[in-house]
Parts: sequence; C-alpha cells; structure tokens
Amino acid sequence: MKPSLLTFSFLLLFVFSLAFSTLVDEQVVVDTNGNPIFPGGRYYLMPPIFGAAGGGVKLGHDTESSTCPVAVFQDYSEVVNGLQVKFIIPGISPGIIFTGTTLNISFVEKPQCVESSIWAIVAGWPAWIGIGGDEDHQESEILTGKFNIQKHGLGYKFVFCPTYTIPPGSCYDIVKIDDVNGRRLILPMDDVSAPFEFVLFDAGDATRNSVV
Ligand SMILES: *[C@@H]1O[C@H](CO)[C@@H](O)[C@H](O)[C@H]1NC(C)=O
Repeated sequence: MKPSLLTFSFLLLFVFSLAFSTLVDEQVVVDTNGNPIFPGGRYYLMPPIFGAAGGGVKLGHDTESSTCPVAVFQDYSEVVNGLQVKFIIPGISPGIIFTGTTLNISFVEKPQCVESSIWAIVAGWPAWIGIGGDEDHQESEILTGKFNIQKHGLGYKFVFCPTYTIPPGSCYDIVKIDDVNGRRLILPMDDVSAPFEFVLFDAGDATRNSVV
C-alpha cells in the first residue's frame, strides 16, 4: 500500500514530538494527568501522596488581630482541595511552563479586602507567603523577586529568588511550617527545611481521588 499523505504527516508529527520531548520534556511542568500546565488553567496544589501530608492551599490570618485573610496556609485535611490557583507568565510567551520559568502564582478568587490574590513574600522572621501588594501589608515589606517551579521528590516545589541576596542570585524553597494558626507556607531562606511539595490537579477535572 502506498503511504498516503496523511500517514506521512502523522509520521512527521511523531518524529517531531519525539525530538521535542527528548530536548525539553523533562522540564515541562505537567499536571497529574500528564498534561502541560498553562496560564489560564486552574489547579489545586496537593501533596503527591494522599494522606498525612494534608490537603490543598487556602487563605488565613497572619495574626489573631488581622482582619483580612492574606496569609497562605495548607489545609491539614487530605480531603480538602483548597483554593484554585493559576499561573501568570508574561504575555508574549508560548504558554508552556517549564521548571525555572519565571511566573506569578495567584489564587483564582480574590477576597474583597485585598488588592490582588497574587502570591507575594512578606518580610518577617521568617518571611511568609501572602497575597496582595504593598498597600495590603503596611506594617511589613513585600520582598521583590521572582517565583518559579522546580521538580522535587514525587512532584514539584516553589522557589523564590529575591532581587537582592548575598551572594547575588540565591534562590530559596517555599516550605511549610506548623504555626499556631495552622500549617503555613513560609520562606525561611535556609537549606534545612523541607520544601512544600505538591502536584497539580486540573481543577476542571473531577478525577482527583482516582489518581492518588
Ligand atoms: C508578578 O506580579 C508582580 C506584582 O504584581 C509584577 O510586578 C510582576 O511583573 C509579575 N511577574 C510576572 C512574571 O508576571
């Protein structure tokens, strides 16, 4: 049988995708279905293993006296998916997110009392993960810098590279810590704390529990 043009096109596509995957596949950030994540997608951040590691991310109060929930927590319960997050990368990119791609992490929903739901590092001891801008954190400074995703264990971790570090160019893992108010995400800027490890569940997909 003479190979048709269609067969040929499929073959070409196959060879092309094979070449592409050999080059970059390892670094494409994928969801639990193996699909590349993309800006505009909505995801739940969950520990890779269902159980004691807990559930998804949510908002809570930094201190007892704070009126607006601007601090990022992880739910203790593995059956809680938490809040949906999305990723923002500069407009003219192809839309594929690789490990190391500079991006912003944002909750899909925004509480009324805050200017934005983009994740930010709030200075403190330790620095902590919050949402909003300078106007939402009058008492402490927002650290400038860049977020990216890196592979870690069975999933991924978030890394933050502050603009000003000693030595220059240092990056730090976002980790979780048990605080009086719950399990919080912080940036301790040391090498000893275990990163907050997560996988990405497509929030448009209801099959989360069958994966883990
Ligand atoms: C992330 O958000 C900050 C604050 O809104 C902004 O200054 C920065 O340009 C954004 N970066 C990306 C990669 O979208």
